[in-house]
Amino acid sequence: MKKKLVVLSGAGISAESGLKTFRGEDGLWENHRVEDVATPEAWKANPKLVLEFYNQRRVQMNQAQPNAAHSTLAELESYFEVHVITQNVDNLHERAGSTHVLHLHGELSKSRSEFFTDLVYNIEGDLLNWGEKCERGTQLRPNIVWFGELVPMIEPAAEIVSEANILLIIGTSLQVYPAAGLVRFASEESIKFLIDPQGVEIGGILNLTVINKKAGEGLPALKNILIENHT
Ligand code: OAD
Repeated sequence: MKKKLVVLSGAGISAESGLKTFRGEDGLWENHRVEDVATPEAWKANPKLVLEFYNQRRVQMNQAQPNAAHSTLAELESYFEVHVITQNVDNLHERAGSTHVLHLHGELSKSRSEFFTDLVYNIEGDLLNWGEKCERGTQLRPNIVWFGELVPMIEPAAEIVSEANILLIIGTSLQVYPAAGLVRFASEESIKFLIDPQGVEIGGILNLTVINKKAGEGLPALKNILIENHT
């Protein structure tokens, strides 16, 4: 039976695909204050700005290509039972070939009714516009988990992490909860790796190896170690 390899990924894994991280020097929120675009209050106050913001993100995502880190995770499925739990709203993990991807913070490529949370649709192309409605006649919004909203996938994600034999933490500053708390659900005996070019605060975690490299460089190297020593 294959071992369970669980990945917690954040914006850093898509940085080498050209998508900006949130808290880096050129981070997204410097041009747009988060409370102007990523909250239910922003949606109420200025829905067209919110739609435009996410339309721009979607255009960038559709132009971007998965990088070596995304493809390496897809390749690891030949050796491990891989589950990717991502805070990212892009679809680069899926486009690289990963088959078990859980999106904690929603997906740019989907819309949903602003009232009926289970009415979710694929967005064809780049844009979601004001006036586009669900089958029950209410405005569609990006299917993104905004600040101040519940994170419905957090419980299934915690269960997956608790069953991990190997945990890879890649490209997340671990500053946003509840996502950042998921690392605490891993068992003590599971083997853990963190790949990030910057220092990330993560205290009190046993069996953790920190690799201070970019994901596209660190992950292909780690792949060989995982296959040789941990299958
Ligand atoms: P952050 O922008 O907070 O952190 C990105 C991390 O990626 C940092 O630790 C960087 O050092 C690291 N990094 C940068 N380039 C990298 C590379 N090439 N390879 C590997 N790592 C690299 O992004 P997240 O932790 O994902 O929420 O942010 C979490 C959440 O905050 C997001 O999901 C978003 C945001 O508000 C919502 O949209 C709801």
